Amino acid sequence: MKVPFELEWLGGAAERHFRKARPRTEELPWGTVDPSRYDPAAVDRARSSWTEVAINEYRAVASFSEVLRALVDAKAPLDLLGMTSDFLADECAHVELASRMAMELGGAAPRLVDFDRFTGPLRRGLTASQRANELVLRVSCISEAFSGGTATVSYEATSHPLPRAVYGSILRDEAHHRRLGGLYFEWALSRIDEAELRRLGQVLLASLRGLAPFWKSRSATSKEAPAWSEADLGALGWLGPAQFAPVAKEVVVRDILDPLATIGITITAAERAELLG
Ligand SMILES: [Fe+2]
Ligand SMILES: [Fe+2]
Repeated sequence: MKVPFELEWLGGAAERHFRKARPRTEELPWGTVDPSRYDPAAVDRARSSWTEVAINEYRAVASFSEVLRALVDAKAPLDLLGMTSDFLADECAHVELASRMAMELGGAAPRLVDFDRFTGPLRRGLTASQRANELVLRVSCISEAFSGGTATVSYEATSHPLPRAVYGSILRDEAHHRRLGGLYFEWALSRIDEAELRRLGQVLLASLRGLAPFWKSRSATSKEAPAWSEADLGALGWLGPAQFAPVAKEVVVRDILDPLATIGITITAAERAELLG
């Protein structure tokens, strides 16, 4: 069932503990965005986009919780478990940053979320190692690599100091989240056979097909002038869909397909052509 995306905040001891764990949030230049200085259509689009980031970061909390549990079950090295645990607080901090950014622009856009299907489904009957392989692949090697790689380009276009600081803070953490995949597979690869590599290739293909609308959808391929000022949208942290499309495709090849191919997780040339065509 879909329900409105809303966040609660307890304050008191919970807030103090969280602030101690992630003290930088309060140092950002909050309260410095004046939405009336920007094109209203650009503000509206930026507001929706930051709301969607908040939802995606919230999903990342759920995803890394699943990754952590799978790594525990697969008896991954303890320091890798500790590293992954730390990411949960990072993702909570990112939810806060993105939602406060939406508030600065006039408040979060209303969004419905299905929490019963919040993260991707895992097939039944997988072993603990297969679950760990699949979740690390989907979350660290694909999802984090995609969001981090594309956000780097959006960050470069962002001129207002507040969204720049938000991106800076998020991207610093995401770099570690993306590294987990490489570290995990370095440890796990000798235990992964050919059949499992082929299975992971299919997981890769399915995940990337889920991202394809970023470069294949009508808004991504439209040549029409956008309904908002691209300069103002950029200042507030966002590329329009037509500008985003080539960035998304480049990140998929450079940060996802190519590095995964070096460890034997691949899709066929025909699948690649169909995906990127
Ligand atoms: Fe994040
Ligand atoms: Fe992340």
